[in-house]
Amino acid sequence: MKSVVNISDLRTRAQQRLPRVVFDYIDGGADAERTLRENCRVFDDLTFRPRGGVATPAVDLRVSLLGQAFALPFLLAPIGSSRMFFPRAEEHAARAAGSAGTGYILSTLSGCRLEDVKAATAGPAWYQVYLVGGRDVGEAAIARAKAAGYSALVVTVDTPTSGNRERDARNGTSALLSGNPITMLPHLGQMLARPRWLAGFLGDGGLMQFPNVVLPGSGPMKYESVGPALARSVVTWADLAWIRDAWGGPIVVKGILIGDDARRAADEGASAVIVSNHGGRQLDGVASGLRALPEVVAAAGASLDVLMDGGIRRGSDIVKALCLGAKAVLVGRGYAYGLAAAGEPGVSRAIEIFRADLIRTLTLLGVSGVGALDRSLVDVPREW
Ligand code: FNR
Repeated sequence: MKSVVNISDLRTRAQQRLPRVVFDYIDGGADAERTLRENCRVFDDLTFRPRGGVATPAVDLRVSLLGQAFALPFLLAPIGSSRMFFPRAEEHAARAAGSAGTGYILSTLSGCRLEDVKAATAGPAWYQVYLVGGRDVGEAAIARAKAAGYSALVVTVDTPTSGNRERDARNGTSALLSGNPITMLPHLGQMLARPRWLAGFLGDGGLMQFPNVVLPGSGPMKYESVGPALARSVVTWADLAWIRDAWGGPIVVKGILIGDDARRAADEGASAVIVSNHGGRQLDGVASGLRALPEVVAAAGASLDVLMDGGIRRGSDIVKALCLGAKAVLVGRGYAYGLAAAGEPGVSRAIEIFRADLIRTLTLLGVSGVGALDRSLVDVPREW
């Protein structure tokens, strides 16, 4: 991992280790991938306004969110199906986050039991909720997350159905999940061409299931059932009331892009919102997270913590988001590439790259800590 200089290098390593169908699942977005591209490009629109002649012998990266302490101003985002990238991947990612003193958000659609993932990390862990399987199944998972010691519930509201990911269709994702050898055959070559991944996949039990989506009478949801189940699993504002009662702790609403929805989240008792377009995987053509951030920050006022995600590949991207009012960010693909490339060491390398970038960027800006970042440190396009 030492020769990996930046997140783009980790992406290359992931591409070398994974079959195309898995790499593109991570790397791709919805439809024409306009929002996916814009999420990364938009950071070019902001330029820094550094303060010269300032010494910052120690740079303070700590943040407090929902009354919880984080050593770094970024958390690892929920990434469904991580166990397809690397054996017991969610435990690796959580352990790396905890070792660095930051948080890991476990997706409902993980391949490891939520209890095992919590036990793997010394840091804060949040649980992300989809209502696949319906309310009873969701309530059971929420009760398990509470008992296991998760410290916030992240409710994702931008997935009333799955986005249209054209790369998945081209790579034969549904054919490979069909279980029919004749249908699968044309797509198997990409797996045989990646023996290291294939050995790990088979050694880890083959196609993962969803052990946190336990269907009464039939056990963990099967992998091939998730697409149709997601289409029936919309989380509405009305659900927030029973989710709040079942959980009894802090709630974070993920997938907010407009001020009205941030106010609605506050009205429904959320403690924080995440400005997010799901990494460009859901509705293509929506604004980037960074572009949507100022409107949401203005609407949230003092009542909500605002986090954002989308397109973060460098520590300087994190700094720009914090300058526009985010209290912290989530990194998605930025660590998922590392996870797919090498498991825990790959995630640790990603975290280290972001941490070193942050310290260097703040030092060059003449700022001694993330708490001192504000809009005076960036030039923003006039029309923003
Ligand atoms: C995601 N994301 C996501 N979000 C969520 O709430 N639940 C989930 O299960 C998933 N699954 C998932 C899988 C993969 C492969 C990706 C890339 C993303 C969205 C994720 O949490 C986050 O919002 C984005 O990844 C942020 O964008 P970047 O950092 O990947 O550009």
